[in-house]
Amino acid sequence: MAIGTIQDPSYVREAFARIADRYVTTNHVLSMGTDILWRRKVARMVRAWKPGQVLDVATGTGDLALEIQDACPPEVEITGSDFCAEMLVHASRRGLAKTIVADAMAMPFPDASYDVVTVAFGLRNMVNYAGAIREMRRVLRPGGHLLVLDFSLPDGILRNPYRWYLHRVLPKLAGLLTGQTDAYEYLGGSIEEFPSGKGMAELIEGQGFKDAEVHPLTFGVASIYTAQAL
Ligand SMILES: C[S@@+](CC[C@H](N)C(=O)[O-])C[C@H]1O[C@@H](n2cnc3c(N)ncnc32)[C@H](O)[C@@H]1O
Repeated sequence: MAIGTIQDPSYVREAFARIADRYVTTNHVLSMGTDILWRRKVARMVRAWKPGQVLDVATGTGDLALEIQDACPPEVEITGSDFCAEMLVHASRRGLAKTIVADAMAMPFPDASYDVVTVAFGLRNMVNYAGAIREMRRVLRPGGHLLVLDFSLPDGILRNPYRWYLHRVLPKLAGLLTGQTDAYEYLGGSIEEFPSGKGMAELIEGQGFKDAEVHPLTFGVASIYTAQAL
């Protein structure tokens, strides 16, 4: 299935179930390890907020949640949620203590139950960005922190070469590694459609947040967005 199926939840869940076994290695190869540095930066930011309860939405194989777990004191409770049980199996095996199968659009958590909510490379796959951000706001206590890490398109002269890489090179390379070219054709399309920079900051603030900030990473091929719940 190709780009036209973007954000169809059953397609997304099934696509991740198919690549779950190879997800971690493929990520590190395709990003040449840069994704590890991005997640470490996020984990340091989360630690600085001194949270008690952290929720990592769309945790997948737990890469970000595990970095946060390593960076924070042991009393900090970290929950990883995802609607793809096959991905969560790997998160548990890799040492994430608390995982819950849950759709980010309607999570089984009480209002105001977390100090920090993170989502890495997950929001972009959701059927309704604003609705997903509102649901994350609901489970955050007032003053709690939201952090979104996701791909973005670089500005300036790198933009077109990077788009060429995304659409022409990456699906073929990932196809060789995973045997699933279509899941990575989907990736390029989803990055094109996803709001970034100021647009994403405005989208977040419109869902009950203040002080949204944008932190571009590696020439802008990814960005961290932070904001505080009103
Ligand atoms: C690219 S992976 C990211 C995993 C992990 N956060 C990371 O940084 O490696 C995207 C994950 O989002 C999950 N996902 C997508 N839409 C979701 C939704 N509506 N509810 C819960 N999980 C979702 C997928 O199942 C998948 O595990």
